[in-house]
Amino acid sequence: MVAPLKVGLAGLGTVGASVVRLIGQQRSALALRCGRPIEIVAVSARSRGKDRGIDLKGLRWFADPVKLAADPDIDVFVELIGGVGNPARAAVTSALKAGKSVVTANKALLASHGVALATLAEKRAVALNFEAAVGGVIPIVKTLREGLSGNSIERVYGILNGTCNYILTRMEQEGLTFDACLKEAQRLGYAEANPSFDVDGHDTAQKLSILASLTFGIKADPKSIYVEGISSIAPADLAAAEELGYRIKLLGVAVKTGQGIEQRVHPTFVRKDSAIAQVMGVTNAVTIDAEGIAPITLVGAGAGGVATASAVVADIADIARGVRVAPFARPVGRLTTSKKAPMQHHEGGYYIRLLAVDKPGTAATIAKRMAQQKISMESIVQRHRGPAGQGKGAVPVILITYATAEDAVRKALAAVKRDRVISGEPQLIRIEKN
Ligand code: HSE
Repeated sequence: MVAPLKVGLAGLGTVGASVVRLIGQQRSALALRCGRPIEIVAVSARSRGKDRGIDLKGLRWFADPVKLAADPDIDVFVELIGGVGNPARAAVTSALKAGKSVVTANKALLASHGVALATLAEKRAVALNFEAAVGGVIPIVKTLREGLSGNSIERVYGILNGTCNYILTRMEQEGLTFDACLKEAQRLGYAEANPSFDVDGHDTAQKLSILASLTFGIKADPKSIYVEGISSIAPADLAAAEELGYRIKLLGVAVKTGQGIEQRVHPTFVRKDSAIAQVMGVTNAVTIDAEGIAPITLVGAGAGGVATASAVVADIADIARGVRVAPFARPVGRLTTSKKAPMQHHEGGYYIRLLAVDKPGTAATIAKRMAQQKISMESIVQRHRGPAGQGKGAVPVILITYATAEDAVRKALAAVKRDRVISGEPQLIRIEKN
């Protein structure tokens, strides 16, 4: 009988409890697949007495996760505490220093301290696995780290935040405002009481930094990502997208360009017939464009106890099998530093919605300013006159540009504003080729 892999698990929230349950339910299958049993032997959480619907009898209890992490009787430390700081960081560090493999779902910790942790893992020749940190159940880390080792990836992009995709889906389907859909998402438990981290794009940025690191060999660094959230999206934008054959999704995009790796998070027009556009509600998806092959899209639940636990258990299973891959797909010394995406150099198509002053010459002025910046227009649509409250004589105008530099678009819009032919701020949404 091969010795079991002994697991110490810290954090018994929804995901932690699901991991305990899943390892129990899949005991024999896991032993068969890994060639040895997997056993949780010790746990740590804030409250010992809480009823979590799982049986913790026979497991050693640690009040301090840092102590559990270094316990000589465990082989693997599973960190499901969350948060960028302590105790999660101290516990993971302590486990790696003690020569134990680590499995974590902690995107914040990896995005900020991933390089330091990977360095420790490398020194001690142990695994640092984090499939659950990005895209929930979707095996995107494994796909990028191992499955596509022989490919040259040009771009990776995805819907990495279920809250935002839920809100955009409801806005599109029901014609509701952002605020109304956010309230609904909060009522249903999809959005936090303080939703800013999700809706302002920072959750997506942390996850993207991890994907970009795995894909392009750069050090994960959310600060090098351009980030825009979804709170400015109006029902009028979704209606226009629908009419023009697009959907709006909050995407995290990392792409190879002439200037280096461009990493950005922003609302995006995606073609309605693309795979990513079919992803609705809280579901996540990632598309990979690699040289010489058709795009690959992986779709699945991005959050939730069972979905996230499935990724955690798969990571533990790899350790039980003796599989160890460089955490960020190459030795730490070969990771390069990424620079913040200079968005003024971003090249792509744009959707622009303006509230134009309804008088002769307005359209000509707008067209002139675009032409001066050498922006080629794919379409210009003047909508019906604006509803009451949008200002007398205001007419929504929607422009779609061909691929152009962002700098040119911003300069043209600034000129149009100075010409006083529009009221309010223009809405600008990037179009992603897909
Ligand atoms: N807040 C995240 C989301 C949960 O909405 O997708 C998973 O990281």
